[in-house]
Amino acid sequence: MKMGVWFNVSLMFLCIFFITGSLSKLERLKHPVTKSDGSLSILVVGDWGRKGQFNQSRVAHQMGIVGEQLDIDFVVSVGDNFYDDGLKGETDPSFEASFSHIYTHPSLQKQWYAVLGNHDYRGNVEAQLSHVLTQKDWRWFCRRSFILSSGMVEFFFVDTNPFVEKYFTEPKDHTYDWRNVLPRDRYISNLLHDLDRAIKKSRATWKFVVGHHGIKTAGEHGVTQELVDQLLPILKEHKVDLYINGHDHCLQHIGTKGETQFLTSGGGSKAWRGTVLPWDPKELKLYYDGQGFMSLHITRSKVNFIYYDVSGNVLHQSSLSKRSHLF
Ligand SMILES: *[C@@H]1O[C@H](CO)[C@@H](O)[C@H](O)[C@H]1NC(C)=O
Repeated sequence: MKMGVWFNVSLMFLCIFFITGSLSKLERLKHPVTKSDGSLSILVVGDWGRKGQFNQSRVAHQMGIVGEQLDIDFVVSVGDNFYDDGLKGETDPSFEASFSHIYTHPSLQKQWYAVLGNHDYRGNVEAQLSHVLTQKDWRWFCRRSFILSSGMVEFFFVDTNPFVEKYFTEPKDHTYDWRNVLPRDRYISNLLHDLDRAIKKSRATWKFVVGHHGIKTAGEHGVTQELVDQLLPILKEHKVDLYINGHDHCLQHIGTKGETQFLTSGGGSKAWRGTVLPWDPKELKLYYDGQGFMSLHITRSKVNFIYYDVSGNVLHQSSLSKRSHLF
């Protein structure tokens, strides 16, 4: 009898331990691998939603052509999905005008995985996260932060907006939709904690982190110091292969052999700002001020990334390899 009670109690603790032990606040998704060699091809675009203007439609057209050539599995959006002020609500026609009616090529009829940018936070964030948009266009999937596994790759999508101090201290410039983010300190510390744990536990061959704001960038916004201080140490500690972002309206590759590579794909529409900040030329492999996008081709031993301009010309390409690392 006593033995039985003891057994039940320990079983209960064991269950609680396993349930809480496996609890992570970061939503996890799997994207199935469909190619027989297990490889994965994706496109990355950022800073795009302008109802086709500022060459958004031309970029979309080329994405369609490249998407077909590479037989892409899905598309990643690095944020600033809808200008200037995100979506007003679930019925905002900008969703169709800037997304559904623009990325119409058959090869782009794939799942899109999106994070939010600062301009998205100036509108109704909950609308972009809503399943109502997914009902209108099945491709749409947007979350603040989440983990996507696909074969040998794990993508860690991070909401970088709450890290940026000035959005909180200079609110006169714009209003931001911080519902479900405040209190800010707790949001950030929970996110960093969950992310650190998830990347540490990951057994994926390749680990990519995706966010809107740049960590290393020569673009006009400059480095996001809050991310350098708080996110970069996690990328370094767990040897994350790529950090991919938008925010600066350019195409950029910054990296040192054997370390995390920093890729910016923020050329989805308005570009040509004419501002480039100084950066060590040994690290700066590409800086292109104009419109375009990026592709990634991932195999077990190699990641190849290619940058394209508005006419589909290849501006730059580079690769990482698991044995010798970069180039
Ligand atoms: C569109 O792209 C072309 C080619 O890069 C460029 O000359 C033109 O200025 C771009 N238009 C806008 C509005 O950025």
